Amino acid sequence: MTDEDQAALLARGWDEAASGYERYFVPRFAPWVATAAEVVRDAALPPGPILVPCCGTFPELDALTAAHPGREIVGIDLSAGMIALARERAAGRPEVRLVHGDATALAATWPGTAAAVVSVFGLQQLPDPAAAITDWTRALRPGGRLSVVYWPPRTETEGPFALMEDVLAKATGDTGREQATWHQDLSAAAVSGGLAVGRDETVHHVIEHPGAAAYWTAMTVDGPMRRMMMARGADFEAAASADFLRRAPAGPWRHRPGAGLIEGRRT
Ligand SMILES: C[S@@+](CC[C@H](N)C(=O)[O-])C[C@H]1O[C@@H](n2cnc3c(N)ncnc32)[C@H](O)[C@@H]1O
Repeated sequence: MTDEDQAALLARGWDEAASGYERYFVPRFAPWVATAAEVVRDAALPPGPILVPCCGTFPELDALTAAHPGREIVGIDLSAGMIALARERAAGRPEVRLVHGDATALAATWPGTAAAVVSVFGLQQLPDPAAAITDWTRALRPGGRLSVVYWPPRTETEGPFALMEDVLAKATGDTGREQATWHQDLSAAAVSGGLAVGRDETVHHVIEHPGAAAYWTAMTVDGPMRRMMMARGADFEAAASADFLRRAPAGPWRHRPGAGLIEGRRT
């Protein structure tokens, strides 16, 4: 599959998952959105817009407008379905702009002119996360702030995320994710873009799921695994789902996965 085909499938997967993602995941991921927004909450930002690459339905928006009223805020996302929901959230706020497009390269449009780049749970989906971090840093004006929260290759050793990873790795024969090390390159990539890195750490919050079946449906219908199921078809989905449910505990499921946070100030 070409890079263009991959991007088109990714966008179509999120188009179809958008409303379910907003309903199921946005409330559960809210603590990490707060973590990312806190970095810029009390910061004295230089002039320029706050950029939000991979904004999805734009859960970052309320905290950013509350902290920096009147500041231009630009959300960028590849999925038209996500942008449509982001537009609903941004209604009545003329300082907010939404761009339907690729967020891997922002510095060409904002060459050292942005006040901040804030992004939650988009970085891990990009083809080259380290290159994106370098580029996002270069989009910042001196004194501008970077705040990026992402899912690293391993988020927990047990729990629904870990079990799903294991089930899908066995079903596809692809163990690349387990062995991935791209997250170890992010700090150096930010420094090469001109960032004085503040924190580069793991942030844990609790998530609760009503049960294994609800979680599986959320991930494969309303979430990031939708495009894999679209690409692999119904038989694959049925077999993977059966394996997952057989190995999952009964009843409500509570876990505490860790996301990566990298933040700092452009020198
Ligand atoms: C898991 S969602 C996160 C959305 C939101 N930031 C949140 O915290 O809920 C990831 C988003 O990244 C977007 N995305 C993935 N690759 C992208 C790219 N290359 N350019 C722009 N958006 C991208 C997807 O369309 C999706 O909306």
